[in-house]
Amino acid sequence: MRQPYIAGNWKMHKTIAETLSTIMALRKDLDKSGHKVMIAPPFTSLQAAAEALKGSSILLGAQNMAAEEQGAHTGEISVLMLKDAGAGVVILGHSERRSLYKEEDSLINKKVLLALKHALPVILCVGETLTQREQGQVEKVVGEQVEKGLAQVGAENLKMVTIAYEPVWAIGTGKNATPEDADAVHAFIRGLVGKLYSKQAAEDLIIQYGGSVKPDNVKALMSMPNIDGALVGGASLKPETFVPIVEFNK
Ligand code: 13P
Repeated sequence: MRQPYIAGNWKMHKTIAETLSTIMALRKDLDKSGHKVMIAPPFTSLQAAAEALKGSSILLGAQNMAAEEQGAHTGEISVLMLKDAGAGVVILGHSERRSLYKEEDSLINKKVLLALKHALPVILCVGETLTQREQGQVEKVVGEQVEKGLAQVGAENLKMVTIAYEPVWAIGTGKNATPEDADAVHAFIRGLVGKLYSKQAAEDLIIQYGGSVKPDNVKALMSMPNIDGALVGGASLKPETFVPIVEFNK
């Protein structure tokens, strides 16, 4: 049985004070959640968030990291710094990194390998644009992103990888993929991981859906056989919407 894994990607939102007040509100409801829960505040809030999450089951994530361990990389944040600040997960290859900051699969793969080398679990994001979907290229695009993103990741380390399928056209638009459409892509990803690794690895793989997940659509998405969790943007910013998403089965 795969344990549901709900993650909140706060993107470029919240000061340290706002992070702390949100965490206080979330802990009240989510410390006892039977699901795996993660929040990823901005880098500047990580250390304060780690302090505020002491004794909580809520995991702390970062939203990105550099492809190098250290050195002359002005403006970048390394895996060592993330771990030092208390992050226990890192989101890599988010579509906003791919489209706005031109991150390619080879760079994302370098980051994945570096995070895993330092035993930092990864959420690897993949997803097609609307044009690619309309051109019937979903499997080609997503397949390539998965295969290239996981290049040289050994079977042992795959246990530290979660995949998030986030169709670009569904992010922040209010248009979520139908549960059936999303599940079809999740099934494709699982099948691909089965071919690249093993049937067991595919069965164990947690695949999150992301893109306009809200309290009123999460239950239908989570009822699909291949959807194991959610990577939530906008609705993760407020406890009023994030808590009911995490508690989708209550
Ligand atoms: P929204 O939930 O705001 O659509 O964002 C999804 C996302 O990009 C999470 O990483």
